Amino acid sequence: MIPRHPTMILIEGRNLPAHVGIIMDGNGRWAQQRGKARSAGHKEGARAVRRIVRAARRLGISALTLYAFSEQNWSRPEEEIEGLMELLLEFLCSERDEILENSIRLRAVGNVDRLPSIVRHALETLSKDSEKNTGMTLTLALSYGGREEILEAARSLAKDVAENNLDPADMTEEMLHARMPSVSVGDPDLVIRTGGERRISNFLLYGLAYAELHFSAVLWPDFAEDDLYEAVSSYQSRERRFGKVGKPAEPIDATPQEIEAPPESQRILRVAR
Ligand code: FPP
Repeated sequence: MIPRHPTMILIEGRNLPAHVGIIMDGNGRWAQQRGKARSAGHKEGARAVRRIVRAARRLGISALTLYAFSEQNWSRPEEEIEGLMELLLEFLCSERDEILENSIRLRAVGNVDRLPSIVRHALETLSKDSEKNTGMTLTLALSYGGREEILEAARSLAKDVAENNLDPADMTEEMLHARMPSVSVGDPDLVIRTGGERRISNFLLYGLAYAELHFSAVLWPDFAEDDLYEAVSSYQSRERRFGKVGKPAEPIDATPQEIEAPPESQRILRVAR
């Protein structure tokens, strides 16, 4: 069998993406492939959440945003929504100690008022209890939509104009940015989508302006630490130009035949800080 990863994945300790967003897709297909109900895929997906939160924290990523439930997901069958809400509640209870012990700040973005009150309560409690933590900010995007977030920001600016507190001519990009909760931890540097589809599905639309995108064919329940490392390693191999001109290419004075790639066995996995 061909290994899914090269023997070693190289990650530089400096140049880590500060804010990573993940579209966790593929739970349904994971279950379907095993002849199980979709709920089994979500349950395994919740285990992957635990695994990847730990890995991101260990790596030193400062903000991780997970697309756990979109505003559009409310139109899924009631039974599936209930199952997802139960998993969310279970996660907030079972991970509470680990979140606090590892100095993780938990918060949510999205229209959380639509969540069942028991979930909202658990979210509010853990958000409050972890608000001073500085190790990593874990944001759960819940009942979240990128367009809806932009609409809310526009509404807030319009209100300021209507109340004569703001002249439209004085509106700045910073004012809009300040009204987007999803980017209060900084714009996402890297956005990963699992499950093989290559689309954004209304995730972090505003913050995505200069994000690097990484699409993985791995279904979310199977997404392992190494898959995260591979995404980070791919991010580190890219030159981010933010609309400017890139560095000129180094002149190469060797013919391609003279450059030897290191053998597979000599590649090193280094998660150095
Ligand atoms: C998309 O897969 C996934 C979701 C809509 C829900 C994500 C939820 C979890 C990973 C588990 C619970 C979350 C937490 C934070 C504990 P899909 O169902 O659309 O998959 P498909 O495209 O294969 O049908």
